[in-house]
Amino acid sequence: TVEVKENIEKKRRTAQQGGGQKRIDAQHKKIPGDSVVTGQGLIHGRTAFIFSQDFTVFGGSLSSVHAKKICKIMDQAMLVGAPVIGLNDSGGARIQEGVESLAGYADIFQRNVLSSGVIPQISMIMGPCAGGAVYSPALTDFTFMVEDTSYLFITGPDVVKAVTNEDVTQEELGGAKTHTSVSGVAHKAFKNDVDALLNLRTFMGYLPQSNRDPTPIRVCDDPWDRDVSGLDTVVPMETTAAYNMNDVIQGVVDEGDFFEIMPNYAKNIVIGFARMNGRTVGVVGNQPKSAAGCLDINSSVKGARFVRFCDAFNIPIITFVDVPGFLPGTAQEYGGIIRHGAKLLFAYAEATVPKVTVITRKAYGGAYDVMSSKHLRGDVNYAWPTAEVAVMGAKGAVSILYRGNKDVASYEQEYIRKFSNPFPAAVRGFVDDIIEPRSTRRRICQDLDRLSSKKLSNPWKKHANIPL
Ligand code: COA
Repeated sequence: TVEVKENIEKKRRTAQQGGGQKRIDAQHKKIPGDSVVTGQGLIHGRTAFIFSQDFTVFGGSLSSVHAKKICKIMDQAMLVGAPVIGLNDSGGARIQEGVESLAGYADIFQRNVLSSGVIPQISMIMGPCAGGAVYSPALTDFTFMVEDTSYLFITGPDVVKAVTNEDVTQEELGGAKTHTSVSGVAHKAFKNDVDALLNLRTFMGYLPQSNRDPTPIRVCDDPWDRDVSGLDTVVPMETTAAYNMNDVIQGVVDEGDFFEIMPNYAKNIVIGFARMNGRTVGVVGNQPKSAAGCLDINSSVKGARFVRFCDAFNIPIITFVDVPGFLPGTAQEYGGIIRHGAKLLFAYAEATVPKVTVITRKAYGGAYDVMSSKHLRGDVNYAWPTAEVAVMGAKGAVSILYRGNKDVASYEQEYIRKFSNPFPAAVRGFVDDIIEPRSTRRRICQDLDRLSSKKLSNPWKKHANIPL
């Protein structure tokens, strides 16, 4: 037995020495750039800070040095007031470093939060991004993805299978399609890496450098007073017929150039950036083509976050309204439409940037109030002649007011005559003018010029308490 004990002890010592040697090797192994490249450069002649994780080194995993390098450029960006772009491609926390790498994540998160609303922060997911790594992109203003090669999830398919017994692939769980159409975690996906980076450059052109900078203006070749005759016929005669709000937006903005955000998520609301006479604007529009343009949980949240981004960064907001109300049903009520719908209302109400609103057709009920109405400090509120500003549509109203009555059709006609037009709102000053659709571009360009010196601030507070 003494011999056996000695043998075991010998083996243990050898293993310890071997293990120790391995650890020392790992410490001294050269890790180029510690798996992240950081620096600054110019995009369209303006400074931007950038970090790019290098998957070829330790799977792009985040060590404390890796985190320090990212924090360093984030601090510099805050100091000079310039955006930070992250190109994410990482296997997550560096496993060998344990809690040190987790601390590194938290250092980045803290900076993400303090930078929020001060400098634009953009994440481009170009490979894996899992576990704790997902929260930095989630805290930034915009998260973009590359199709087929990027994914974001809290836990991978194996853990999902073990915990919930669901069979799901990486792509289904956290690929670009999932996050841009189902979860709403990502704002847009691009075909490949090159397409993604080119689009990122275009996108950056819309943004100011920081919240201290005014809205960017660039030279514009599209005449500001261009008549857009197509707009006169874009709204169908039939009040329930659908049309594409993107046609309206593209008709009005410079060169029909509209950088749509989240085009495949909550399609009943359209959001994105464009320019009016060279000046960046944020555009929000109800989309009659999808769920008749109703507001629901997802579209409210989508719209609210966008409005808040624009407000934080001095970007005027143009709102095109064609909304029959909030989407009814138990799914919406149980899901908390009251709480989520309130977000969009809150966002518009607190926004102090120039707000121009055009009611193209329906503006019904509470949704009328929400969509940048005069009552929420809308600066200029227009209605097209096709506008219907009312508590609800004729059918719904008559079914409540004249329940059981046989002569429904004539009551409906009377209701339409009385309420389904822009005049009741216009005579009360809730609509500033009823305009010809073709003149919309000219009117908005003039308004934005005048409103460029707008000064409005909210009462002092530590921060507001938006319903989350
Ligand atoms: N820490 C340290 N090294 C890591 C790492 C991490 N978190 N993630 C990956 N690596 C290393 C791998 O060991 C491998 O090293 P090698 O080339 O010396 O063998 C290299 O990076 C490439 O990783 P690999 O697993 O071969 O690439 P893949 O494309 O097959 O898979 C991942 C990529 C991200 C799915 C996989 O690496 C993974 O699951 N990583 C861990 C993710 C995780 O749970 N992170 C913690 C979350 S906070």
